[in-house]
Amino acid sequence: MKYQRIPAVGKEVDEKEVQRMADETQVAGINIGDAAIAARTEESLQRTEDMLYEGLKRGHDLPTVTASYLAQAGGKRFRPLTVFLAAQVVLAQNNPELLAEPLHENVIKAATVVEMVHLASLYHDDVMDEAEQRRGAESANSRWDNSVAILAGDYLFACASMFMADLGAEAVRITSQTFLELVNGQMEETIHAGDRGSVETYLSVIDGKTASLIATAGLFGAREAGADQTQQDAMHDAARAIGMAFQIVDDMIDIASDSDQSGKTPGTDLREGVFTLPVLYALEQEDEVGERLREILTGPVEDEALVEEALALLRNSEGMRRAREVVHNYRGMALEAISVFVESPARAAFESLIEFTVARAG
Ligand code: FPP
Ligand code: MG
Repeated sequence: MKYQRIPAVGKEVDEKEVQRMADETQVAGINIGDAAIAARTEESLQRTEDMLYEGLKRGHDLPTVTASYLAQAGGKRFRPLTVFLAAQVVLAQNNPELLAEPLHENVIKAATVVEMVHLASLYHDDVMDEAEQRRGAESANSRWDNSVAILAGDYLFACASMFMADLGAEAVRITSQTFLELVNGQMEETIHAGDRGSVETYLSVIDGKTASLIATAGLFGAREAGADQTQQDAMHDAARAIGMAFQIVDDMIDIASDSDQSGKTPGTDLREGVFTLPVLYALEQEDEVGERLREILTGPVEDEALVEEALALLRNSEGMRRAREVVHNYRGMALEAISVFVESPARAAFESLIEFTVARAG
C-alpha cells in the first residue's frame, strides 16, 4: 500500500513518512500511535529496568546473579508496559499537565514490583513444568537445578516486598491478594493436571495464575497516577480482560508456534497433561480430529511422536478457531471497560496494547 491514513494524524502521508512515524511510536514492538507517549513509556521501561537490577542487589551475590538471570534473558515487560499505559490514561483525564513530566517514581516502583513478582512466578513455574527453555535461553532449573531456581524465585519475591513496603500498606495488601490468586490458580492447575476438566475450570485457573497479576498492573498504574475508585475499578477490569486474552493466546502459541518464535518448548502443556482452551474445544469436535485427539489426550503425553501428532491435529482444529473467538470476546470486554475514560492519545495507546495482545492469536 502506498498511502495510508493514520487516524491520529488525519491526513494521508507517504510510505517513508508512515515508517518514520511508526518507528517513533513503537514501544516493545507495539505501535502505540503517539510519539510523546512512546518516549515517556520507553523512558519508564528503562527506569524500571535499572530499578529491577538495583533492587536485586541486596548484599547477597549468589541470589542476585541467579535472580537476575531470567530478567537478562529478555521478556516483553508486558506488565510494566500495562502499568505505564494505564497511568497515562488516568493522567490524561485527571492531570494532563503531569504528562509533560516523567512518570512519578512510585509508578516505576509499582511496575518493578509487578515484574519482580512475575519473574518469581516464572522461576517456580519452570520447576513445576520441568521446562528446559525460557525466553529463548536455558531455564534456571536447567542452568542450575530446581533448588536454585526455587530460591531465586523466593529472593525475587523478597526484593519485591522491599519495594512494596515503600508504596504503603494498601499496595502490600493488593500484591498479597494477587499472590494468593496466583498461587490458587497455579495450584488448581496442578491438582487438575491430567484431568480433561471443564472450560469453566480452565477460565478460573487462568484468571488466577495470569489475569490477576496483569489486572494488578492496570490497577497499580491507575492508583499511583491518582485515579478515583471508579477509574481504578475500570482499569482493573480492563487489565483483567487483557490478562485472560493474554493467557489464552499464550496457550494457543504453545500449540501453534515453534520454539524459535516463542522461546519456549512447544507442546509443554500436552506433556504436562494441562488441557488448555483450544484443546478442550478440540476434544469436543465430532469429527476425525476430535476422535483421534480423544484417543491421544487421556492425560500427560509422554511419547514425543504422539505430542507431534496431537500438535499437528490441533493446529488446524476447530478448537483453535473457537479459542480465538473467546480471545475476541475478552478484547471487547477490555475495550468496553476502558471506554469510561475520556478519549485521548493515552487511551488510544492502551487500546493498542489490547489489540497487540489479541493479534498474537493470529
Ligand atoms: C505460567 O503458566 C505460570 C504463571 C503465569 C503463574 C505461576 C504461578 C505460580 C508459580 C505461583 C506464584 C508464585 C510466585 C513466587 C509469585 P504457563 O506454564 O501456562 O506459561 P508458560 O508457557 O509461560 O510456562
Ligand atoms: Mg509453564
